[in-house]
Amino acid sequence: MRVAAFISGRGSNMLALADACADPDFPAELSLVLSNEADAPGLAAAAARGIAVEAVPHRPFAGDREAHERTIDAVLTRERIELVCLAGYMRLLTPWLVERWRDRMINIHPSLLPAFKGLDTHGRALAAGVRWHGCTVHVVRAAMDEGPIVAQAAVPVADDDDAHTLGARVLEQEHRLYPHALSLIASGAARVAGERVILHPHALPSPALNPPEAP
Ligand code: GAR
Repeated sequence: MRVAAFISGRGSNMLALADACADPDFPAELSLVLSNEADAPGLAAAAARGIAVEAVPHRPFAGDREAHERTIDAVLTRERIELVCLAGYMRLLTPWLVERWRDRMINIHPSLLPAFKGLDTHGRALAAGVRWHGCTVHVVRAAMDEGPIVAQAAVPVADDDDAHTLGARVLEQEHRLYPHALSLIASGAARVAGERVILHPHALPSPALNPPEAP
């Protein structure tokens, strides 16, 4: 399966996907990394690994989001992309692109959805006093951070955590979770049925994603 990753910044999740895809037995290939920021560090990191990269800056489109996305969509078609992985792509997508890629676009979000949609998820989790936090890979729908859940990983919240330490613990799990979720989709072990994701009964068992105890 030919996969594109969309990034806006450092691209650590994209690099985790690239590492997984480098295994010849992995059911997907990272064929393109696309960014709305031409100087995103992740774009240079992908290019250094020999992955095709494309910058499609949004600013020249002066607020015409759909025109920006039509340009992106043309790149995806040209590169024969079959699945899009949003990996820290910090722009809201229009319903037009989301519908065009319906059930063929997934996202990673740094919370246990449906809790803490949006930004500053770690600070808000701490303020809410939750004991468990984590990350989610979900199929993209038009509403922000909503859609059928493919996989989640939870981490314990420690009493002395700040947003930085908690975010680092979650990010470590993101880097395990996203390749796992991509392999479920690309292998056909997970499929979207309406607003839920169904796992094939013979799917490989999920690796234990939760660390056994608080670090
Ligand atoms: C990740 O933590 C990802 O979950 C988050 O942005 C970060 C990107 O880091 N995404 C969102 O908040 C989307 N709602 P990365 O560029 O190093 O992968």
